[in-house]
Amino acid sequence: MSAPGQPDTLVRVDRVRRVYRRGGESLVVLDGLELEMERGGFFALMGPSGSGKTTLLNLIGGLDRPDDGEIYVEGEALGSLSNAALAAWRADKVGFIFQGFNLMPVLSAQQNVELPLLLTGLSRRERREHARHALDLVGLADRAKHRPRQLSGGQEQRVAIARALVSDPLLILADEPTGDLDRASADQVLGLLSKLSAEFGKTILMVTHDPRAAESANCIVHLDKGRLDSIERRAASRPS
Ligand SMILES: Nc1ncnc2c1ncn2[C@@H]1O[C@H](COP(=O)(O)OP(=O)(O)O)[C@@H](O)[C@H]1O
Ligand SMILES: [Mg+2]
Repeated sequence: MSAPGQPDTLVRVDRVRRVYRRGGESLVVLDGLELEMERGGFFALMGPSGSGKTTLLNLIGGLDRPDDGEIYVEGEALGSLSNAALAAWRADKVGFIFQGFNLMPVLSAQQNVELPLLLTGLSRRERREHARHALDLVGLADRAKHRPRQLSGGQEQRVAIARALVSDPLLILADEPTGDLDRASADQVLGLLSKLSAEFGKTILMVTHDPRAAESANCIVHLDKGRLDSIERRAASRPS
């Protein structure tokens, strides 16, 4: 809980360090990084290739752990959770979206969206209803029975967004979600992400190389040499 008048911080990255060791060599990727994300914010994370963007996303999403420092989400220190508790936390709180969509080719759109719900206590009927609702939200209710290869890239990414949404997560982490899309499809995906933040209060962190994609966010964070280089807060503009 935050005090009245204080911004409501959802994510706090506190002096996070991540070092990869390979053979005798160490590579310091994040070096005392600090970041605060307000609840409901749409953040774009930019930076040169190899600057640690995916590493940071994976740490915030509980897929990886820092070597030093801590990540707090809703005030809870992720470092205090066991591996099993962290996996359960992730299933409950985080939706991931990837550049290459990562849909299961043998499953229909509907079945792909239902996948994260198999870990929950929902009945089969509830799972179907939630998945229907999520597909409806991304405008693909009429494609529920299609397999990924029967969809366009933009449609596949919208199915992946529905899958990220279906468990009603707090946080959506998207790693270059428009990297493989044409401009029209990218704009649809960005419009959806903006809507999830503005209308549904989801907190979004999106890695992108594309300054135009970053324009959809209300905060642009630049990563360089293991630290945040600059933070640009702005009024979000929706892609038209
Ligand atoms: N599991 C790993 N083991 C060793 N090095 C890694 C690993 N993951 C990433 N790296 C290295 O860490 C650096 C940052 O990677 P990454 O976070 O993927 O950067 P970005 O997403 O900004 O391109 C890169 O130099 C990459 O080669
Ligand atoms: Mg990356």
